[in-house]
Amino acid sequence: MATWSNFNLQNSNSPLMEQIIFFHDHTLIILIMITILVGYLMLSLFFNKFINRFLLEEQMIELIWTILPAITLIFIALPSLRLLYLLDDINNPLITIKSIGHQWYWSYEYSDLKNISFDSYMIPSNELNLNNFRLLEVDNRIILPIKTQIRIMITSSDVIHSWTIPSLGVKMDANPGRLNQTNFFINRPGLYYGQCSEICGANHSFMPIVIESILMKNFIEWINNY
Ligand code: CUA
Repeated sequence: MATWSNFNLQNSNSPLMEQIIFFHDHTLIILIMITILVGYLMLSLFFNKFINRFLLEEQMIELIWTILPAITLIFIALPSLRLLYLLDDINNPLITIKSIGHQWYWSYEYSDLKNISFDSYMIPSNELNLNNFRLLEVDNRIILPIKTQIRIMITSSDVIHSWTIPSLGVKMDANPGRLNQTNFFINRPGLYYGQCSEICGANHSFMPIVIESILMKNFIEWINNY
């Protein structure tokens, strides 16, 4: 979860988010190198007195400063494509859950596991406990096992919402009349907070998502006792 003054990506809790952070850092390094080079070039242009009265055709330098940026872009494009395909790979999930966006709450279905289904509403500020997070806590959390490949099917019953959990690297739009799928794998036991990230109406800010990840044996116990 993001805490005060955190301007970076949140720490990863899944292998995919780790890959996203690696790609972000890699691209940022290339961006810094370009900025420094272009900055130096522009400054040195302003502060010298070189003049070339016969500057008409300079094929060689034009060739170089066209090809060099193209090669630089390849160093971003290829890892980007790798990441894109990694994110879309479903990897034989053990559990499939379904999430439905509503104005303004999420509902969940465990269709393969005793057909468990429930709504998940934000807890209003005046009902919070002292250890709760304002605008992020829900009344019914999604319970999931750690170290398990999970598929989530996402759809909506009214307008477009977006099911987003930053520390797991999951972000998928919930469209009415369409069933999207994405997947994730939780590394650790804990609570993972997310929010709707598609402007979906007056209470868009008030439909958070909370996953509670637990050991598989406790998950089975939870299912059996539901
Ligand atoms: Cu649902 Cu924004």
